[in-house]
Amino acid sequence: MSGSIDMRVNLAGLELRNPVTVASGTFASGREFADFVDLSRLGAIVTKGVSLGPWAGNASPRIAETASGMLNSIGLQNPGVEAFVVKDLAWLAENAATTPVIVNVSGHSVEEYAAVIERLEDESGVAGYEVNISCPNVDAGGMAFGSECAPAAAVTRACRAVTKRPMLVKLSPNVTDIVSIAQSVEAEGADGLSLVNTLLGMAIDAETRKPLLARVVGGLSGPAIKPVALRMVWQVSNAVAIPIIGMGGVMNATDAVEFMLAGATAVAVGTANFVDPTVTMRVVDGLVEYCHRHGVTDVRDLIGGLEA
Ligand SMILES: Cc1cc2nc3c(=O)[nH]c(=O)nc-3n(C[C@H](O)[C@H](O)[C@H](O)COP(=O)(O)O)c2cc1C
Repeated sequence: MSGSIDMRVNLAGLELRNPVTVASGTFASGREFADFVDLSRLGAIVTKGVSLGPWAGNASPRIAETASGMLNSIGLQNPGVEAFVVKDLAWLAENAATTPVIVNVSGHSVEEYAAVIERLEDESGVAGYEVNISCPNVDAGGMAFGSECAPAAAVTRACRAVTKRPMLVKLSPNVTDIVSIAQSVEAEGADGLSLVNTLLGMAIDAETRKPLLARVVGGLSGPAIKPVALRMVWQVSNAVAIPIIGMGGVMNATDAVEFMLAGATAVAVGTANFVDPTVTMRVVDGLVEYCHRHGVTDVRDLIGGLEA
């Protein structure tokens, strides 16, 4: 019930009914959340990362809590694109037919990223792609491609060559200059950017003197990273012309508004889904309420509306 407020945003060519999406890897493909969330009220669904063949992921323990966020080293575990098409895409087509599905794509090599997209091109249930060049939890692929301009550009170029669908590229915050990486990805034809993936961190058990994660290091997400993510969305949005999905510690509607004011066209809710599986609905309702309270009749007016 958005009343007189226009909540629609155009994200890289995708018409979203509102700016609220979910962050890859924190919502699977929606099935586990369908009892809590009306999937038809989400702006879009971003799936868990999908690779060409199955990936086993990393050894356990691979989740640890910290004071204001969590560490994960899942390592892009997934059953591969064929199983994804049969099981998840089919389920989404049946249960979330009116919500655009953005498939998060992973690869060990430039060729693998492109091959995943090629395989999905004939599937009508895919609205667009989010190319993840920013996972800190895999040795080959992921952040290795997203940490420097040349490999980031190479992955983007290869993926662009095989699809005309809207294609976002998801960047890592674990870099010195995220603006230059964003610009090199934009120059290769990315339609949008997702900012940010997790920050590299670690946690130690002082009693046992052991790391809490089997892989020692992992990706930090949740409220702890919001100030970093906001800063990066703001910096990048001032330097590129393509739209941004902002994420990193969105726990409520106020956080979502902050990301939009910093320059995001849409926001993704990640770690908060583990705290409260209904959180996305609260963010949608809260965004409408914020607009009412502030006399905003078109949610797009929030984008980049920071008064600095
Ligand atoms: C358990 C877990 C799994 C994740 N898996 C993926 C993934 O498969 N692909 C990806 O691009 N990002 C993945 N991410 C990163 C999130 O999509 C998001 O960028 C990050 O968690 C920051 O948002 P948040 O603070 O709201 O969680 C994962 C994050 C978590 C916590």
